[in-house]
Amino acid sequence: MFRSKISRVTRTKEQAIAVYDHLSRWYDWLSASSERPLTELGLNRLNVSAGEIVLEIGFGTGHALLALANAVGESGRVFGIDISRGMFKVASERIVRAKLIHRITLEQGDAAALPFETDSFDAIFISFTLELFDTPEIATVLSECRRVLKVDGRICVVAMARDEHENLPQRIYEWFHQCLPAYVDCRPIYVQSALMQAGFQIQEVARKQMWGLPVEICIAQNPREKNDE
Ligand SMILES: C[S@@+](CC[C@H](N)C(=O)[O-])C[C@H]1O[C@@H](n2cnc3c(N)ncnc32)[C@H](O)[C@@H]1O
Repeated sequence: MFRSKISRVTRTKEQAIAVYDHLSRWYDWLSASSERPLTELGLNRLNVSAGEIVLEIGFGTGHALLALANAVGESGRVFGIDISRGMFKVASERIVRAKLIHRITLEQGDAAALPFETDSFDAIFISFTLELFDTPEIATVLSECRRVLKVDGRICVVAMARDEHENLPQRIYEWFHQCLPAYVDCRPIYVQSALMQAGFQIQEVARKQMWGLPVEICIAQNPREKNDE
């Protein structure tokens, strides 16, 4: 089936770091009524349980890290990676305040090359972050996710989803993405196709909306055959 291509992300990683460093102070306020309720739905669907070892990619200000740390309990462990030093600082302070520092380990770095061993995690959570990697890098990030996930491990992606027939909010959003590539760096992507092309098996998809834009919450599993690419 022919589908129009998703937009490219043209800003550099250095620009991403600078923008998210600035945003880190305001991000909670900006996302409280938009992204956060959908992130919480994704966390519910991922349904992490006690004792699991979980990774969050693009942890932002750290709300999901706390929820994951509470879900894994004393016998589990949570790891997070984010490219922004500002987000790292805000999330670290939140973890200290919540007295959960012994359950959570944070890395500051680029999720296109995950600094973790193969077969390390039971689950991965990635919310409003996959859609800010440029098109070729989406496959790289998901391939890295498959590498570090255990067999049968699961991934939850919450992301703005591309529809073949764009509505007005989607067209306006894409226009801002083209005009302000460093600031409006994310754009809608084909979430399920990206997961399937990376070799994941889709388990569950929920479609929601944010500002009139489609958002998908996808749960997928890392199948038994890891060398099937
Ligand atoms: C739109 S925010 C979402 C934050 C959080 N997941 C949430 O839902 O509130 C995207 C996050 O991804 C991080 N990020 C951007 N590019 C990244 C990369 N290449 N590797 C890791 N994190 C990245 C940003 O610093 C930012 O914290």
